[in-house]
Amino acid sequence: MWLSTTTALVLVLASIQLNTCYAQQSQELERRFSVDGAVAEAYDYVVVGGGQSGLAVASRLTEDSSVSVLVIEAGDNGDALRKDIDTPSSTYFKPITGTNNDWQYQTLPENNTNNRIVWWPRGKVVGGTSAMNAMYMVRPSQLEVDAWGKVAGDSNRWGWNSLLAGMKKSETFTPPQDDVKNIAKIQFDASSHGTNGPIHTSYPPFGFVQYGQFLDAMNNVGIWNNPDAMSGKNWGAWTTGTFINPANWTRSYSRTGYIDVLPQRANLNIITSSTVTKILFRSDSDSTATGVEFARGKDAARQTVKANREVILSSGAIGTPHLLLLSGIGPKDVLTAAGVKVQVDLPGVGQHLQDHITNSVTWNTTVDTAGSLFKSGTKSAEFLAHVNSGVAYINATYLFGDAATFQKQVADQYTSSLSTALLSQDPTVVEGYKTRYDVISKQIIPSEVGLVELLINLMGETTTSIGVALQHPLSQGRVYINSSSVFDPPLIQPNYLAHPADIVMLREGLKLARRLGSTSPFNTTLRNETSPGSNVQSDEDWDKWIAATTWTQFHPGCTAAMFPKNQGGVVDTSLKVYGTNKLRVVDGSVFPFLFSTHLGAPTYGVAEIGSTIVASAKNSAVSSIPKGSWSWLDLFHGLPSSKGQ
Ligand SMILES: Cc1cc2nc3c(=O)[nH]c(=O)nc-3n(C[C@H](O)[C@H](O)[C@H](O)COP(=O)(O)OP(=O)(O)OC[C@H]3O[C@@H](n4cnc5c(N)ncnc54)[C@H](O)[C@@H]3O)c2cc1C
Ligand SMILES: *[C@@H]1O[C@H](CO)[C@@H](O)[C@H](O)[C@H]1NC(C)=O
Ligand SMILES: *[C@@H]1O[C@H](CO)[C@@H](O)[C@H](O)[C@H]1NC(C)=O
Ligand SMILES: *[C@@H]1O[C@H](CO)[C@@H](O)[C@H](O)[C@H]1NC(C)=O
Ligand SMILES: *[C@@H]1O[C@H](CO)[C@@H](O)[C@H](O)[C@H]1NC(C)=O
Ligand SMILES: *[C@@H]1O[C@H](CO)[C@@H](O)[C@H](O)[C@H]1NC(C)=O
Ligand SMILES: *[C@@H]1O[C@H](CO)[C@@H](O)[C@H](O)[C@H]1NC(C)=O
Ligand SMILES: *[C@@H]1O[C@H](CO)[C@@H](O)[C@H](O)[C@H]1NC(C)=O
Repeated sequence: MWLSTTTALVLVLASIQLNTCYAQQSQELERRFSVDGAVAEAYDYVVVGGGQSGLAVASRLTEDSSVSVLVIEAGDNGDALRKDIDTPSSTYFKPITGTNNDWQYQTLPENNTNNRIVWWPRGKVVGGTSAMNAMYMVRPSQLEVDAWGKVAGDSNRWGWNSLLAGMKKSETFTPPQDDVKNIAKIQFDASSHGTNGPIHTSYPPFGFVQYGQFLDAMNNVGIWNNPDAMSGKNWGAWTTGTFINPANWTRSYSRTGYIDVLPQRANLNIITSSTVTKILFRSDSDSTATGVEFARGKDAARQTVKANREVILSSGAIGTPHLLLLSGIGPKDVLTAAGVKVQVDLPGVGQHLQDHITNSVTWNTTVDTAGSLFKSGTKSAEFLAHVNSGVAYINATYLFGDAATFQKQVADQYTSSLSTALLSQDPTVVEGYKTRYDVISKQIIPSEVGLVELLINLMGETTTSIGVALQHPLSQGRVYINSSSVFDPPLIQPNYLAHPADIVMLREGLKLARRLGSTSPFNTTLRNETSPGSNVQSDEDWDKWIAATTWTQFHPGCTAAMFPKNQGGVVDTSLKVYGTNKLRVVDGSVFPFLFSTHLGAPTYGVAEIGSTIVASAKNSAVSSIPKGSWSWLDLFHGLPSSKGQ
C-alpha cells in the first residue's frame, strides 16, 4: 500500500546497480522501512523525523517490547546513494548535499552579508543530517552545559554529568592505529569515551603530516595541545575523533548505529517518503496531541495516524519549528499572517536561531593534501576513509590579549544592539536574549571556553586552509513561515553579523589563522596565501571581506529552545512543548544556546536523555517514583529491558 509499483520498480532497478552486499542489505532493510506496506491506526508513540535523533529515540523506546513506535521520515531510505553516505571522504568529494536527500534550504538575503543567499543543507533521508555531516566528533565544555542546566532550571537532568553520560551511552570508541596516531599527533583518554554504544567513533586510518604541524604551530604560539578534549575541557588544539566504524571504515550514523544492527522488531515501524503536514490536537481549546497528519507528496491524499501516548518531534533545527508553526504553535503574528489558526500563542518558536559562521585563510602547499591525492586517483580504502580532523578552540583572553576589556565592551553594547541583534521584540523573547547575553558575556568570555574554532582543511587540490568558525554568536535570527503548507519551505533569516562583536571575534580568529601559517613548522609546508591574500590587512579590509565571504559551518540550532516560558522558551526541562500535552521535542533544536562544538555528539546526548525521559514518563504513570529519592543518572541503568547496545 505504501510502496507504489513505481517506487518498487525504481528501488529494484537501483539495487541491481549496487553490489550484492548492498542489494541484499537493502532488501532486508526495505522490509523494515516499509513495514510490509502497512501502517497501523495507532501507535504508542509517533516520532516525526527519522533523522539523527528520531532513530535513536525510536530504537531506545522499542527496547521495551510492550511499546509501539512509528517513525515518519520525509526522505527516502538513502539506498540509491548509500555508497556515498557510507564512504567518509565522499562527504567532501561526492557529497549527498544538493541531491534529493538534502532539503536544500536557503537563507533569505541579508545586508550584513552583502545580500548573499546562504545554502543550508539538511539531511532528508533515514539518518537525517547524520547521514550527510562531516563526521567531526567534538563535545562541548562542562561550563557551557552546566550553564544550560542552570538557565533551564534543572541542573540534574541537563548538566554536564547527565549529558556526558548520554553522549557516552551512544558511543563505542576504538583508539587510532599507531602510524596515524604518530603522524597526526593524536592524544586521547579512552576513559572519557563510551565503550558499548551504538555509534562508533575512532580516527580515520590515514594521516597527514600537516595535522601534526597544525598542533606544533599552535603550541609555538602558546596554545595548549589538549590531551583529553572529551572530558569537559574542550579547549586548545587537538586532532579530533570521527563518527566512523573501524570494522569497515564506513560512516557511523543513526541509521547504521541505532537501526540496522537491530533484529526485526515487531513494535517498530518506520515509513519513508512521508512528510508530516501537521500535528493533530484534541480540539481548538485542548492542545493535547492526538496524532499527526502526513502525506506521501504535495498532491497526495492526507492521511492520519494516532499516537496513544505521545507525539515526539525529531524533525531537526529547521523541521521542528516549521512543523510547530504549521500546527498553530508559535508567535501569533507570524501564524496569522501565514493563514494558520492559532492553537498556542508561543512567541519563542523559531526565534533565538543561532549558527556557527565561518571563513578561512588559504595557502598554497608543498605537500600532498587529501585533495591532491584524490585528484591523482588514490583509491585505497584507508585513504577514502579520511575526513578532516584537526581542530582548536580559542578563548577570549588569548584572542584579545585581555578578556576583561572585551567583556566590558560586549556588556556595554547590549542596549544599543538589541534592536538589530534580535529580530523579535516580544518581551519574553527579549528576556531570553538577555539571559543568553549574560551567559556569553559574564561566564563564557572570561573563561577557558573557545569563542572561535580553528579547523585545518586538507581537501583543497593545491592548497591547505584554516577555517575559523564563530562559536558564541550574539546575533540571533529566526525561522518563520509565510505559507500554511509544509511543502513550501520555511523562511530562514539567520541575522548573521547583526551584533558588532560577532565580526570582531571572527576577525581576530582569522588573524590568528594567518599568523599560524607563518609559524614553524607549518611555514615549512605552506607557501603564499591565496585567500584572502595580501590586500586584506586592516580591520576594515577584514570586515569587508568577512561580509563578502561569510558562510555557515552548518550548525543551526536553538529554534525550539529549552528555556523558561517567560523567557521565550519552547520546551520545558522534560522536553514538553509549553501549552500542550503529549507533545515533546527531542532533537538539536532544543539547545538553549550554541556550544563550542560540532552539534552531532551533544545531539546524541539529547536523544539518549530524551528517550529516558519519555520512557520514565510512561513508567511513572504505573508506579510513580518519589522525587528526590533517585539520581537522574540511574535512569540510564534502570530502563526496562535495556538489552544490548
Ligand atoms: C553539511 C553538514 C555538516 C555537518 N558536520 C558536522 C560534523 O562534522 N560533526 C557534527 O557533530 N555535526 C555536524 N553537523 C551538524 C549535525 O549533523 C546536526 O546538527 C545533527 O545531525 C542534527 O540532528 P537532528 O536530529 O537535530 O536533525 P536531523 O538529523 O536533521 O533529523 C531531522 C529529520 O526529520 C526529517 N523531517 C523534517 N521535517 C519532516 C516532516 N515534516 N515530516 C517528516 N520528516 C521530517 C528530516 O528529513 C530528517 O531526517 C553538520 C551538518 C551539516 C548540514
Ligand atoms: C538593506 O539594503 C537595502 C538596499 O540594498 C535597503 O533598502 C534596506 O533598507 C537595508 N536594510 C537595512 C536593515 O539596512
Ligand atoms: C560495516 O560494518 C557494520 C557492522 O559493524 C555493518 O552493520 C555494516 O553493514 C557494514 N557496512 C558495509 C557497507 O558493509
Ligand atoms: C595555488 O593555489 C591557487 C588557488 O587554488 C591555484 O590556482 C594555484 O594553481 C596554486 N599554485 C600552486 C603553485 O600550487
Ligand atoms: C586561554 O588560552 C590560553 C592558550 O591556550 C591559555 O594559556 C590561557 O590560560 C587561557 N586563559 C583562560 C582564562 O583560560
Ligand atoms: C514567501 O517568501 C518567499 C521568500 O521571500 C517568497 O519567494 C514567496 O513567494 C513567499 N510566499 C508567499 C505565499 O508569500
Ligand atoms: C618559519 O618560522 C620560523 C619562526 O617561527 C623561522 O625561524 C623559519 O625561518 C621559518 N621557516 C620558513 C621556511 O619560512
Ligand atoms: C602564489 O605563488 C604561486 C607560485 O609561486 C603563483 O603562481 C601564484 O600566483 C601566487 N598566488 C598569489 C595569490 O600570490
